[in-house]
Amino acid sequence: MEKGGELMENATRNKWLKYRFMETRQLLPYLPETRLMTRDSLWNLIKKYRHVIVKPIKGSRGSGVIQVSSIGNGEYAIHYENRKMTIKGKENTYQYLKRIMGDRRYVVQRKISRPTVNKRPFDMRVVVQRRRYSRLWEVTGKIAKIAGKGYIVSNISRSNGTVMPVDRALKKSSIRNLSTKTLQSKIDRVAKLTARRLESFFEGHRIYGLDMALDKNGHVWIIEANLFPILSHFRKLKNKTMYYRIMKYKND
Ligand SMILES: Nc1ncnc2c1ncn2[C@@H]1O[C@H](COP(=O)(O)OP(=O)(O)O)[C@@H](O)[C@H]1O
Ligand SMILES: [Mg+2]
Repeated sequence: MEKGGELMENATRNKWLKYRFMETRQLLPYLPETRLMTRDSLWNLIKKYRHVIVKPIKGSRGSGVIQVSSIGNGEYAIHYENRKMTIKGKENTYQYLKRIMGDRRYVVQRKISRPTVNKRPFDMRVVVQRRRYSRLWEVTGKIAKIAGKGYIVSNISRSNGTVMPVDRALKKSSIRNLSTKTLQSKIDRVAKLTARRLESFFEGHRIYGLDMALDKNGHVWIIEANLFPILSHFRKLKNKTMYYRIMKYKND
């Protein structure tokens, strides 16, 4: 399986391939619609959802992630890093994006409208693991990542964001009357389904760090699946239980 192995190795950090792997009937309801970035796919998804996220296929830590929104009158709002601007006309907008994108390959994805804590959007890092000789996937850690002031991305070091326990973030944001317990079990269920699906592509892999978001109606969304998640965020919580559990699973 020389070729297959090579393909898998490239897939580990390839958002587009991982998205395609996850596109099953079971996971589809949780995947924000995503296409390879072209003029057509950009304008189609903007027409359909008004707000989209444009991001590099091989990006990490929030680098190169751009929000594009239609604001009417043929004008488009771009939010990149902590800067916002308005551009008139589709072609000008596309050319502006092109300058940021350079020759990197990008995807365009429906933007999920996330709940906020202190007016800043948050999403979650959900760690799913299995022990070496077990087929059972478990959610071993969940943490809320709150975007830093002025940013769309919640990646902590890029946006100067903050972390807090998920139940606290959920309580502060009150999502359409759903209890935090219900929300958490929905998240866990989708996270485990995702790991089980990816298992057939990344044989022997035992940890996923999923970027997941809720929308304001409490619907669960999978933003991306990381195979090499940073775990240091968990060490920042006062309660280190999750951190120790994750580390223990890694060695078990
Ligand atoms: N579709 C989306 N809707 C809302 N926010 C998003 C979306 N895609 C990305 N983001 C925000 O940008 C961050 C970085 O995007 P992500 O896909 O995780 O790429 P990276 O590899 O750079 O972490 C996410 O953690 C989230 O905060
Ligand atoms: Mg990410």
